[in-house]
Amino acid sequence: MYIPLLKIAGITLEAPLILAPMANVTDSPYRLMCRLNGACLVYTELISAEGILHQSKKTWALAGFQPEERPIGVQIFSHNPEALAQAAILIEEKLKPEIIDLNFGCPVPKVVKRGAGAGFMKDPERIAEAISKVVGAVKTPVTAKFRSGPSASNLTVVEAAQAAEAQGAAAVTVHARTTDQGFQGHADWEVIARVKQAVKIPVIGNGDVVDGNSMLALFQETGCDGAMIGRGVMGNPWIFQECRAALESRSWQRLTPAQMWPHIEFHYRKAVELKKLNGIWEMRRYLSWYSKGIPGAAEFRQRVFHSEDPDHVLEISRKFFLKLVTV
Ligand SMILES: Cc1cc2nc3c(=O)[nH]c(=O)nc-3n(C[C@H](O)[C@H](O)[C@H](O)COP(=O)(O)O)c2cc1C
Repeated sequence: MYIPLLKIAGITLEAPLILAPMANVTDSPYRLMCRLNGACLVYTELISAEGILHQSKKTWALAGFQPEERPIGVQIFSHNPEALAQAAILIEEKLKPEIIDLNFGCPVPKVVKRGAGAGFMKDPERIAEAISKVVGAVKTPVTAKFRSGPSASNLTVVEAAQAAEAQGAAAVTVHARTTDQGFQGHADWEVIARVKQAVKIPVIGNGDVVDGNSMLALFQETGCDGAMIGRGVMGNPWIFQECRAALESRSWQRLTPAQMWPHIEFHYRKAVELKKLNGIWEMRRYLSWYSKGIPGAAEFRQRVFHSEDPDHVLEISRKFFLKLVTV
């Protein structure tokens, strides 16, 4: 299937495959894993604009990234357009990402109630104001990530995308679920097709891409310019290899556990290097995802979660994936 190259502002992506921002999932080590396996653009998880402005060390650490992750978008959120603009200025100065992305999709009730994240979807005029402020404040291309709208009876995303285009956004992402839906139910890709018809800037489709076939179907059914993958990458960064193969009409074989191991070891070592002890403990969750579907996974997880010794976790993992012993 022929899909044209995706260009966002001055950046041409090698393939139109994008890693979704996911809080507590797509940290720096995992983004590196996805880049190495074929993701062509990655985003940080949502970063609090207020945290940036208050110089919170934790927030700045979440926003940071390694040079090898580029091109990268730093995603910020706030209920306050001015705070978004000021945070964007600081991020541009300090981190120089390729993209600054605005989160208009987070459905967490506490966030929505304050008018941040998906709280914006009720009011495309406020979206226009936020985008206009940020675009006016920085030279970095600005993108926006939307949901379909607050609810099935109030789909505002076409209006929101048109507002984004009018205010100078470089691209929009549409997560084709409503705020009400949270992460439940199916994504309604028809909404993405409608946005694509309504704007000239690139439209990135998102929701329910879980393999090469669903990625091709997303492009076919919506005409969108890029595919963003979220939950499908959890424990499966190789989904990007699979999608690259599907785009090039090449056949692709799932990796065996033994083939997965060198990647997983790389992930482990990066997590330790970049996040020290935290990285080691966070790796237990990723290891449990990686082990899904492999015989003996339940027992492996038990052992990983009960070990307090990082070297031991690495050793039992090596043995499990390389099947040196029956775990
Ligand atoms: C654990 C988790 C964390 C998420 N965090 C963010 C986030 O920080 N920013 C954001 O824009 N979307 C976030 N999302 C939404 C995803 O980016 C994506 O839009 C959604 O999962 C739909 O794509 P999928 O069906 O491929 O998973 C998150 C989703 C999950 C499951």
